[in-house]
Parts: sequence; C-alpha cells; structure tokens
Amino acid sequence: MELVERPRRLRRTAVLRDMVRETRLHPRQLIQPLFLSEGDRVEPIGSLPGISRWPVASIGEEARRLAGLGIGGVLLFGIPRDKDPLGASADAPDGVVQRGIRAIREAVGSGLVVITDVCLCEYTDHGHCGILRDGEVLNDETVERLTRIAVSHARAGADVVAPSDMMDGRVGAIREALDDAGYTGIPILSYAVKYASAFYGPFRDAAQSTPAFGDRRGAQMDPANAREALREAALDVEQGADMIMVKPGLPYLDIVRLLRESFNVPIAAYHVSGEYAMVKAAEAKGWIDGRAVMLESLLGLRRAGADMIITYAAAEAAGWLREQG
Ligand code: PBG
Repeated sequence: MELVERPRRLRRTAVLRDMVRETRLHPRQLIQPLFLSEGDRVEPIGSLPGISRWPVASIGEEARRLAGLGIGGVLLFGIPRDKDPLGASADAPDGVVQRGIRAIREAVGSGLVVITDVCLCEYTDHGHCGILRDGEVLNDETVERLTRIAVSHARAGADVVAPSDMMDGRVGAIREALDDAGYTGIPILSYAVKYASAFYGPFRDAAQSTPAFGDRRGAQMDPANAREALREAALDVEQGADMIMVKPGLPYLDIVRLLRESFNVPIAAYHVSGEYAMVKAAEAKGWIDGRAVMLESLLGLRRAGADMIITYAAAEAAGWLREQG
C-alpha cells in the first residue's frame, strides 16, 4: 500500500509518543478540595471514597502530605457545627475555615496555594447560598455577606478566594472589599460558570448543604446554555476575576473550550463530587480500571483547555503521575 500519511509512524515507541504528546498533566495543576469540620475525628465520607472531613487539629499533617506530593493547592470548605439563617460563622475570625487556613499555613508555609470557597450554603441552616426572604435568595444582601467572608479568609491567610454562590455583582464587590482592607494582592478565582447540576450530590452529603426546600436553579445556570456562559464569564472578568472556573467538568468540556478561546485568564475546571464518585463506584464493581479512567478524565479536562483542575482525585493522581515518571 502506498500511503503518504501514516499517523501510526509517530506512535511506535513510548518515548516517541511522549515527545509528540500535546497535553500533559502535572501535579501542580491539581487542586485538592478539603472539608474542615469541628468534630474531633477524621470522618470518611461514604459517597466520596477516599475523602474525609478533617478536624482542624489534623489538617496540618494532611497538608504536609499533600505538599509532599507536589500538588498545586487546596480548596477549603468549612462545615461548622452550628448553622443559622445568616450563616454567622462563615466570617467569624475563629470560624472553622479561618482556623484551618492558619493551621495549613503553619504546616506548609507557602508550599500549597490555599484557596477558600466563599459561599453561605455550608453555614446556613436552610442550606441556601445566601440570605433568604420569603423563600428567595436576596442578591445584594448576600453579596454584602460574601464580601465580609472573603476579607475574613484573606485576613486568616488565604492565598486566593473563590466565590461559588453565583450572586450577581459579587466579584466586583469582593474585589473592592479586599482592596479596601489592604488585600490588593489576593486574587479572585470566580466560579464564573456554575451549572445547576445533579453531579453535586455527594458534595452536599459531605458538606451537609442540601437546600432544606427548593433547589439552586434560581442562581445556578441552566445546563442547556452555552452562550450564557460567555456572558457570565465576561461579567466576572470585567469585575476583576483573576481566574475563572467551569463547574462541573466532563459534561461541560465544550464550555471549557469556549472560555479558553474567548478569555486570556487562567481557567480552572471543577471535576465535581459526582464525577469522582461515579469512577469510584464503577471501579468498586470491577467494571472499569479506576486509575486509568481517572487520569483519562483529568487529561480530557486539560485538553479541553483547563489550566488547572479541582478534583477529589488530586492527591491520588499526583502519586500516580510520579510513579509514571
Ligand atoms: C457551593 C459549592 C457546591 C460545590 C462546590 N461549592 C455545592 C452546590 O453548589 O450545591 C459542589 C462541588 C462538588 O460537587 O464537588 N458552596
């Protein structure tokens, strides 16, 4: 057969394949979400195999392990013991996240980028992401609370704040509040494009943040919409977002690609709880090779255009990547 093009020529040896590889996955591009609790024991989360709620007293040691694996950073979620309608503990100087930030800092210095999730749903007794009136989340009153939470995280030593609430105008308001408080150097990673997704199920278990009534469709985006993602991202970039996020990950690879082609800020993809749990569940059944599927999933997010990936598999994947060399 006379063929000019034989793509298989470049697949003949492992080193050759490695040389022409277009996309790479590096531990530094991975961010591990961490749940901080006020309990006194490490509590494994049933629907997220391998993931636990950590008491602040043990988080320093875990942070040292993660830093040793070479991952880029951690994304902190607080699960306070007491919840109330306004989520009062979210911006308390001795709140669970604020204490966690200090413990991680003490353990690893600047060896990990400490990112905090800025939202109210883990702190409110009704589980909604903001202040409620007549069953509706009030935008502007919630934004006011969020600015205080962001400043309190910066004050405790966070490197990056990540608002995940989807209220309108929050990025600009948080930027202004951080600047006024003297934190001009703290970047904002905005959850710019966050879909009202069924893939968040295990997270809501883990954070005990399932809304007591209704759902989040009044704030989060309709999974059917792509053009709207461009509008949301543009607003956040205009308001000063330093990095933008797409969430969930794999069902929204087209959105990651769209944003990659439209904006020059770094893009994060959140490979969410349900995406991780599905791989673990199928692996437990013996139906797939969990390690290979997980790495392929993360590589797919990178190929679509994500600069970094928030994933429950961060630590595990960093270990595998090292083994592979
Ligand atoms: C809100 C928040 C959620 C997740 C991250 N930040 C839950 C939600 O919007 O209901 C979900 C992440 C995941 O599923 O892994 N603070």
